[in-house]
Amino acid sequence: MRILSGLTPSSAGIHLGNYFGAVRQWIRLQEEHDAYYFIATYHAMTSIQDATLLRRNQLEVALDYLALGLDPERSTVYLQQDIPEVTELAWILSNLCPMGMLERCHAYKDKVAKGLSADHGLFAYPVLMAADILIVRSSGVPVGQDQKQHVEVTRDLAMKFNQQFGEVFPLPEPLILEGAAAKVPGIDGEKMSKSYDNDVKIFDPEKRLRKRLMSIVTDTCGVDDPKEPEGNTIFELFRLVADDAAVAAMADRFRAANTGYGYGHAKQELFEALMDHFGPARRERARLEASPGEVEEILRAGAAKVRPVVEDTMAEVRRVTGLR
Ligand code: ADP
Ligand code: TRP
Repeated sequence: MRILSGLTPSSAGIHLGNYFGAVRQWIRLQEEHDAYYFIATYHAMTSIQDATLLRRNQLEVALDYLALGLDPERSTVYLQQDIPEVTELAWILSNLCPMGMLERCHAYKDKVAKGLSADHGLFAYPVLMAADILIVRSSGVPVGQDQKQHVEVTRDLAMKFNQQFGEVFPLPEPLILEGAAAKVPGIDGEKMSKSYDNDVKIFDPEKRLRKRLMSIVTDTCGVDDPKEPEGNTIFELFRLVADDAAVAAMADRFRAANTGYGYGHAKQELFEALMDHFGPARRERARLEASPGEVEEILRAGAAKVRPVVEDTMAEVRRVTGLR
């Protein structure tokens, strides 16, 4: 099956929620599918209008992708702007998209609900996402739960396009995969998100990572009080990165009374487990960072691989719509 997914580089670096909610599944899927993974730079422009920052963030995300195991031999890894035709397809799809459909989409709705004014880019964001998916005629879209709505919009738009112009697009399905974490908690216990400043970046320097984990918000149980592991942020994060025996041992230590084991100890264990789990990826990232030419070449090769696919789709789209 052809699959496609992407992340918006609206901040530098992938966090634990992105990895356990999405990217880890992508890595597994590249083994058996025709996989396209891209960096959604145009999407990031809904929040970043600063050239240096945009350039830095997209490079950071590319480094993260590769270090975590997206393999350019197995999947096609590219930058969204290397196929500017997505914006053309987005425009074409816009004309099939009722306002109401976009008004219900959460990125826009949440912003307006907070009393903030949204611009057209944010409003139209799901249409561009539909174009990303449809331009490679992807049938599966591996995303976290919170992106499901956008894939449903894509499906609707593909259906409308096909009804109007003939069968051009397969109807894509969201792939919400087994093993994907639906809601990785952030350091404040709420859903981890770069926009809440509660995220833990996988590749933060050791010192910063440790400091971040030490600031995880907990209840007031002292070292000798029994504590409930389920739902505890430290434990929930530990569970993602430690093996079963270590997880069971931490749960026992949480539940036991009068052992002098406090949240500080648990945070230290979490820090060590994280460093361990991501040790190989951290080393690979350091290696890649030292050879930016290699990353550029991978992205160039990815763009060259996706190009004929895009040209094929767009030739048909232009023909059936009357643009050619
Ligand atoms: P953010 O909320 O930090 O802006 P994005 O919306 O860019 O993250 O999400 C990118 C991908 O990572 C999506 O597929 C999303 O489902 C997944 N994801 C993000 N945060 C989490 C989380 N806390 N738990 C599980 N998955 C997440
Ligand atoms: N909206 C997605 C996110 O914030 C990123 C994205 C853009 C995407 N285009 C896509 C994901 C196409 C899957 C398919 O994470």
